[in-house]
Amino acid sequence: MSTDLAEYYRSRAPEYEVIYFRPDAARLFELEEQARAVRSWLAGRDVLEVAAGTGWWTVHAASVANSITATDINEETLAIAKTKPLEKVNFQIADAFALDQVPGTFNGFLACFWLSHVSRKRLKEFLIGVYNRLEPGSRVFMADNNYDPNLGGRFVQEPGNPDTYRLREDKHGEEHKVLKNYYSREELEDLTQGMDNIQIHMGFHYWWIMYEKPSSNKPA
Ligand SMILES: C[S@@+](CC[C@H](N)C(=O)[O-])C[C@H]1O[C@@H](n2cnc3c(N)ncnc32)[C@H](O)[C@@H]1O
Repeated sequence: MSTDLAEYYRSRAPEYEVIYFRPDAARLFELEEQARAVRSWLAGRDVLEVAAGTGWWTVHAASVANSITATDINEETLAIAKTKPLEKVNFQIADAFALDQVPGTFNGFLACFWLSHVSRKRLKEFLIGVYNRLEPGSRVFMADNNYDPNLGGRFVQEPGNPDTYRLREDKHGEEHKVLKNYYSREELEDLTQGMDNIQIHMGFHYWWIMYEKPSSNKPA
């Protein structure tokens, strides 16, 4: 069984976007609401996007942003994003934990369906990395799934381990143990502490958060 997250997404890149076409009106409605929130929050911004994948959310942000640097660890997912009719997008291979390697100056940030894949012990490191790459007053948008017992593979919790996982099979029959953490409103409040103009949306299937990095550049 593989626990390599990057490899899991590499293997399923061609069929990844089926998650956005589930025949479920409530989900589709929430995703459209999320897209509207992305568009209104990041309009006019120079956006750093991490774990952009196949570019589903890049498309929404690109329709309003001044520029986007869309990054992902996998060439295979970005190759699909690059086939989309996107202007103003610069694609870069980058590890979400090494954002200092990404060239550019940013006043916007986007990460959809990524935070669930960050282990609890690296969460602070990731958020500090984001903070350090953004100009004062930058706007951040992050979104992810709420826990659903009926979707996303068998749920796995291990004694003494703060992270949770889903067991998923790829199309070749290989089983993957995918790191997948879920956030409560209280946890999201905690991780946005010290930020400005915080908005936390807890939907039924999805959550999203919007906040601004304070205008005075305090150290993280
Ligand atoms: C759930 S997908 C999200 C894709 C896209 N943001 C979306 O919402 O449709 C997670 C993405 O994280 C990428 N990824 C995995 N490990 C990564 C890492 N260490 N740094 C950056 N991206 C990573 C995968 O290649 C995959 O594209």
